[in-house]
Amino acid sequence: MKAFTLPNAKRLSVSADADAWAATVAQRVAGLIAETLAHQAECCIVLAGGATPRRCYTVLRGLPVEWARVQIYFGDERCLPAGDVRRNDSMARESLLQHIALPDAQLYAIPAELGATMAATQYSEQLAETDAFDLVLLGMGEDGHTASLFPENPALAANTLAVAVFDAPKPPPERVSLSFATLNAARHKLFLVAGSGKRDALQRIARGEQLPAARIHHAEWYLDRDAMPHT
Ligand code: 6PG
Repeated sequence: MKAFTLPNAKRLSVSADADAWAATVAQRVAGLIAETLAHQAECCIVLAGGATPRRCYTVLRGLPVEWARVQIYFGDERCLPAGDVRRNDSMARESLLQHIALPDAQLYAIPAELGATMAATQYSEQLAETDAFDLVLLGMGEDGHTASLFPENPALAANTLAVAVFDAPKPPPERVSLSFATLNAARHKLFLVAGSGKRDALQRIARGEQLPAARIHHAEWYLDRDAMPHT
């Protein structure tokens, strides 16, 4: 049987089940934060949205992390009212942020309630004040999108730090996303991919299809066994 590989992946980890997968990801995140803080004053990380990361964030909140030296940003946000439970920052607050000692001033939510254009402009200005991220967490959709960078969408060509997204096929249609340039500039990029719904996109990427997730280079991919395609 041919071994499953992903083009230009820095690492591919496959866990036996969702609990083992969540623990592996959470420990890697905590470890990378500790490694970063061993040689610099603070660590700037980007959280992934969607539902998959929830299980990892729940494990991560119980690990010993020096949150007082961490700055937290978001890879994308849905244009919904502030506090709407469907927002990515709402999921992060509920599963992680409310449970850790992170100073409020070190949390940089995307102001997506302002609408995509205004929010992308403001977040780009915010990002211009930081260096490249130390660590970016990313999910992947069943169509191979990542953050809110969807196949065939004009946002894929953006050269700004954050980009307004319209006509997203995954509701809501209006979003804000970090651009490929911003995501690829990060020192460490981790994909969190679990569940059988992701097999097809992974298979297409393994075969060389340039889906958006495939355009994030030298990433570490963390899969559970359910997500693994039958090669
Ligand atoms: C979103 C996310 C999106 C997500 C993927 C996977 O707004 O939904 O930013 O990029 O990471 O769609 O979503 P699931 O983890 O829910 O499968």
